[in-house]
Amino acid sequence: MPSILYKTPCYRLSLAPMLDITDKHFRYLCRLLCKEMLLYTELTTTGALIFSKNDYLEYSEEEHPVALQLGGNNPLDLAKCAQMGEARGYDEINLNVGCPSDRVQNGSFGAVLMRDINLVCDCVKAMKDTVSIPVTVKTRLGVDELNDYDFIHDFIEKLVNANVDAVILHARQAFLTGMSPRENRDKPPLNYERVYQLKKDFSDTLISINGNINSLEEAKNHLNYVDGVMMGRALYQNPYLLVHADKEIFGKEQEHVPTRKEIVRKMYPYIEKHLSKGGQLKHISRHLLGLFAGVPNGRAYRQYISQNHYKENMGVELLEKALTILEDC
Ligand SMILES: Cc1cc2nc3c(=O)[nH]c(=O)nc-3n(C[C@H](O)[C@H](O)[C@H](O)COP(=O)(O)O)c2cc1C
Repeated sequence: MPSILYKTPCYRLSLAPMLDITDKHFRYLCRLLCKEMLLYTELTTTGALIFSKNDYLEYSEEEHPVALQLGGNNPLDLAKCAQMGEARGYDEINLNVGCPSDRVQNGSFGAVLMRDINLVCDCVKAMKDTVSIPVTVKTRLGVDELNDYDFIHDFIEKLVNANVDAVILHARQAFLTGMSPRENRDKPPLNYERVYQLKKDFSDTLISINGNINSLEEAKNHLNYVDGVMMGRALYQNPYLLVHADKEIFGKEQEHVPTRKEIVRKMYPYIEKHLSKGGQLKHISRHLLGLFAGVPNGRAYRQYISQNHYKENMGVELLEKALTILEDC
């Protein structure tokens, strides 16, 4: 049965962690579109959290439920960072065991950890011993030659014995050599059936599926077999997909479905606050480009923003103008 540690079944739909994409601004936008879903931060390394002076843990209260994704391989460091995340109010700590990038491999974490299940379990146990919020793992179905059913079955069995609260499976294997991170997200074939089978074998464990899920319709279909669906690129390319998610995925009545323009305007107070603290419009407006995907004249809106938002002293007037252009076109 799904973990009782979550206050709501937020895991039924989640925003995938995406470096340089799922920052606090994009997560805030997603929260305006969907109240119930779980939002994941970008990967944050233990080194950055422990040694940097930057505040990598900053988020808005509105973002809850929000999960902090950690990258690392040292149980003590991970426990320390998990504790920092819990103290700051995060709702879940997630360990990345799926990223195949060279930089991550050089740090000996991410997908390379799939080769050392005992170390992954030590990391999970160390975090579980330290925090009371859920500790979860995001991983793949295999790595290099370790890609048969027995491998991933054994991997999850050990995670379950380490008391992991949920496993998110990107439904394809990773290749540590010969493929870029981008290719690793598309080329290895998807195997949704294997994820469904794992859910059957570990019926008491909360299992979410990830990988090329492009619509709420597809998400709903997966939910017949697994507990949760995680979506990444489709939501970045077209965040407005989320506008019906509270109803379609979580069964909540929606009194009013905001239009795309209303969503942009709902961002204004948030943007003003960011600007007043010395931030720049482009940090946030770049995440609003996808909102009018597939809409007539959406291209003119995107072009206007992209050509102007990097200039100095830009404010919400620029966005208001972009919305007008959309009308004018
Ligand atoms: C630009 C980009 C950055 C990503 N960064 C991360 C990351 O920081 N942590 C992680 O676990 N996965 C990361 N991923 C992988 C996604 O979380 C997800 O597993 C993958 O994109 C497949 O899901 P999708 O087809 O719904 O996008 C990233 C993906 C993209 C496109």
